[in-house]
Amino acid sequence: MKKKWWHGKTAYQIYPKSFMDSNGDGIGDIRGIIGKLDYLKDLGVDIIWLSPIYQSPFVDQGYDISDYYAIDPAFGTMEDMDELLEEAKKRDMYIVMDLVVNHCSDQHEWFQKALQDPYGEYGKYFYIREGKDGQPPCNWRSYFGGSVWEKLPGYENLFYLHMFAKEQPDLNWENPKLREEIYKMIRWWMEKGLAGFRLDAIINIKKDLRFQDFPADREDGMCSAALMLQNAQGVHEFLQEMKEKAFAPYQAFTIGELFDFREEEMEKYIGENGCFESIFDFAPHLIGGNQKGWYACEPVDPDAYRDTVMRSKLTSQKTGLMANIIENHDEPRGVSRYIPEGEVTEISKKMLAGLMMMTYGLPFLYQGQEIGMTNTHFESISDINDISTIEEYRLAREQGFDEREALDIVAKFSRDNARTPMQWDDTEHAGFTDGTPWLKENPNYKEINVADQEGREGSVLEFYKEMIRLRKDPEYGNTVVYGEMIPAYEGEKRLFAFCRKDEDHTLLVVANYQNEDRTIPMEFDSKKILVNNYPEDNIEKRVLKVKDGWLLTLRPYQFIVAEL
Ligand code: GLC
Ligand code: CA
Repeated sequence: MKKKWWHGKTAYQIYPKSFMDSNGDGIGDIRGIIGKLDYLKDLGVDIIWLSPIYQSPFVDQGYDISDYYAIDPAFGTMEDMDELLEEAKKRDMYIVMDLVVNHCSDQHEWFQKALQDPYGEYGKYFYIREGKDGQPPCNWRSYFGGSVWEKLPGYENLFYLHMFAKEQPDLNWENPKLREEIYKMIRWWMEKGLAGFRLDAIINIKKDLRFQDFPADREDGMCSAALMLQNAQGVHEFLQEMKEKAFAPYQAFTIGELFDFREEEMEKYIGENGCFESIFDFAPHLIGGNQKGWYACEPVDPDAYRDTVMRSKLTSQKTGLMANIIENHDEPRGVSRYIPEGEVTEISKKMLAGLMMMTYGLPFLYQGQEIGMTNTHFESISDINDISTIEEYRLAREQGFDEREALDIVAKFSRDNARTPMQWDDTEHAGFTDGTPWLKENPNYKEINVADQEGREGSVLEFYKEMIRLRKDPEYGNTVVYGEMIPAYEGEKRLFAFCRKDEDHTLLVVANYQNEDRTIPMEFDSKKILVNNYPEDNIEKRVLKVKDGWLLTLRPYQFIVAEL
C-alpha cells in the first residue's frame, strides 16, 4: 500500500456547539476551540474535524446550511476561523471541515429563488416534481420521519425532495451548474488552508430518478428512503468528478460518511483509486438496529461486536484505512453502548479504547470520548433538542409505550447523549460555559472530567495518550499502523483477540470482554507486555507454567498488548 501522510495520525471530531464556550452565551465557539488546541495537541491529536460552523438556522444543528461562505455568528467570525487555521498550523495540526452538500437549508438563497420561480434556473438546483393528484410523487420516508416530499408553497401539485428534514431540501447533483457551484466553494475553503473535508451523507447525492414506490415497511404506508439508494446507479461519477475538480488539486484529506454502500465496492471508495482518502467504519453501529425504529432495536452483544469489527477490518485492510470510531455526534456514547449496562468502569472503558486504537484503521475520537463520557440522563422529553430523537419518541408513543417507557427507549440512542457539553472540570456546567449551556450538561461531570484525569495514573485520558503514543512509537508505530490484522483465539466467547503483524514485529492484542476472570492458554511466547489497562498489575505473576505450555489468567475487562 502506498503510504499517505495521514496514515499514522490520530483524528478528533469537535462538535463546536458543545466543546468550549468563550463568551458566556452558552454556545461553544471557535475561540473556545482555539483555547483548547494545546490540550488536543497534548492528547496526541493531529487532525481535527469540525462539525458545521457555517451560517445556519439550526433546524438540524448546522447540518442545514444557509450560506456556505459564512461562519454562523453563534460560533464567531471569519477572522476567528482564519486564526484557528493559523494556530493549528503552528502546532502541526490539520483542520477538516464538514461538507454538507446533499442538501442545504430552505433559507439558502438558492432555495428561496427556487420558491419564487420553480420552473426557472434555481428550480433546477433542487428536485422539484409533480405529485399524483396532490399526493407526493412516491412513498419514500425521510430519515427524520414523514414523506421525503413537501409541497411547494402556493402550488397544488408541485413537491420538492428532502431526504432529511423538510427544511433541508436536497440539491440536484444532476445539474452541472450546481456541481460547479459546489466545487467552487470547496476550492475557496481549500485556498484558506484547510486540510480537507468530511463529506456528510455523501452517498445520498445520487438518486434513483424514476422516483418509484417501494413496498411499505411500516404502518404509515411508506418505505425507507435508503431502499432507493440501492437502486441509484452512478454515484461514483459524481464523486470522481468532485475529487478531480476540487480535492485532487489540493491533495485534500477527504473522509466520507456513508452507510448504504456495497462492501464489494470498497476499492471505489478508499485506497489508490478510491474517491475518498478514507470512510468511517459504521459496521458496529448497525448492530442491533431495526428498520422499525429505536423502540425495536436490541442492545449490542460483545461477541457480535467482535465479529462485526473483525469482518469489517478483514474486508477493508487489503484496500486502505477506514476510520475507526466508537461514537460521534449522531450516536450515543460508545462506552454506554458497547459495554453491557452496569459494567461501565474505567477499566472496561480503557479496554474499549484499546481495541479501537489497535484495530486496523485511522483512529477517530469524538470529543469527550478520551475521558470516557457516558450517556446522559434525561428528566423528560423537553430536555431533548435533537430532531431525530423527537421523531423516535413520537414513534414509540404511537406503538403504545407510555411517556416513561418511550423516554427510556430514546435515551439509549439519542444523539443528544453525545451533544451534552464537554466536561472540562467539576465547576458549574462542567467548566464549559459561564452562562447557561444550550443543552444541559451530563449530571456526572463532577466524577468524569478532564481536570480530574489529566496526569492521574490509570485514568481513561492518560490511557488514550499512551495508545496514541504507541501508534507513533519509532519502534512499534509501523506495526500498529500497517501491520496485518489476524484473528486469534477464534471461537472463544467474550474474548476479542487478534495479532498485528509485519516484518518487524508481531503484537498480540487480547481483551477479556466480560466482568469475570478467565484463563487462556498462551499459545505464543510473549517477549514483552506493551500495554495493560490494569496499571498496577504485574501480569507475569499470573502466567502459569503447565506441562505443555503456559496459562494466562486475565482479569475482568483486562486488555493487553504483548509483543510475541
Ligand atoms: C449526517 C450528519 C447528521 C445530519 C445528517 C443530515 O448524517 O452526521 O448529523 O443530521 O447528515 O445532514
Ligand atoms: Ca459562545
